[in-house]
Amino acid sequence: MKIIVKTFFGLETVLTEELEELGYHSTEKLNRAVQLNGDWTDVYRLNLYCRCALAVLVEIDQFSIKNQDDLYRKSKQVNWSKWFDADKTFAIRGAVLSTLFRHTQYPFLRLKDALVDHFREKQGKRPNVNLDDPQVVIDLHVRETQVTISLNTSGQPLYHRGYRQATGDAPLNEVLAAGMIRLTKWDKQKMLIDPFCGSGTLAIEAALMATNTPANILRNTYSFYYLTPFRSEVWKNMHAEATDNMNMIKTKSFEIIASDIEQSMTNKAKRNCRQFPFGRFIDIQTCSFQDIIKNEDHAGLLISNPPYGQRLKGDIELLYDQLGSWMKHQLHGFDCWILSASPEGLKHIGLKPNEKIKLFNGNLECSFRKYAIY
Ligand SMILES: C[S@@+](CC[C@H](N)C(=O)[O-])C[C@H]1O[C@@H](n2cnc3c(N)ncnc32)[C@H](O)[C@@H]1O
Repeated sequence: MKIIVKTFFGLETVLTEELEELGYHSTEKLNRAVQLNGDWTDVYRLNLYCRCALAVLVEIDQFSIKNQDDLYRKSKQVNWSKWFDADKTFAIRGAVLSTLFRHTQYPFLRLKDALVDHFREKQGKRPNVNLDDPQVVIDLHVRETQVTISLNTSGQPLYHRGYRQATGDAPLNEVLAAGMIRLTKWDKQKMLIDPFCGSGTLAIEAALMATNTPANILRNTYSFYYLTPFRSEVWKNMHAEATDNMNMIKTKSFEIIASDIEQSMTNKAKRNCRQFPFGRFIDIQTCSFQDIIKNEDHAGLLISNPPYGQRLKGDIELLYDQLGSWMKHQLHGFDCWILSASPEGLKHIGLKPNEKIKLFNGNLECSFRKYAIY
């Protein structure tokens, strides 16, 4: 089967590296996605393990169209009843970039009609649409005359990891956080510090990596549960093995410090960390970044997304100024990686970045910058 693993802008290379580590050596990098070949066991594995994946799609048909009616006609010929039953709810999502369609919603309606008519004719009953919480999610991709139809085997995006009990105002997306950590090339051994941790996303994603715990070990819903090829025994065994491995972690195998000036935020971070047995090994401190207590003998990695100053503009320059000065004087030997959407703030760090990577935090264009402190 052709499998497409979707990700965020800028994470295609780290996703390819992650897939390589998971044993997928023949991959093709696409725009915000990576393609590979695999079977249904790979689909379960990718959904469970892949930290930089937003969704795992399985392509079920591809054809070209000359006009709008072709979309209906050819989609009706897709063997839908091979993939799921009429008693399942479904939704169609995706992207259409084609001059054949003037109204963006129209191709989705035509595909829905084709699917429903297919079931009615074959089985005398039809599946119902559920836009909010569908069991089966179908992905429609139209690029001019080229149509690709896939099953989105994840359903809810894979950043719904299942560990987030509490969030602050601006939590980092879990998939973005995992991708950022990979971009730093952290070796999982060196001390890792997030001094603006908020609800603890970067620290938790780092601990998941350091303990080789699958990203989605606590998630309990996937769209593949509702597809006909689903073999629950294979999935249950895979999941049980990973859960056993996680529960066997009894000692500290990493040095991760997460701190924030707000007690309300560190309480949230603690609550999220406590979802995992190894969460108690994450050192959570309530303090301003300059007051972090750390082992002075160890150099390491600082990775953080400080405030961007959308609300308090004036203070932000001072904050970045103090951050830069603290990094320069207190973090000798550290690689410091800062994600920010504030060009003004970044200027005030006052250090020359060794690397700059463009990423998006939601709709905000950000720069992810490395400062190696000698
Ligand atoms: C953009 S949020 C970080 C969100 C976090 N990455 C998450 O996933 O929830 C920035 C955080 O910096 C904290 N903060 C602001 N000034 C600080 C300071 N001087 N020292 C430490 N933390 C500070 C805020 O309380 C806020 O939680």
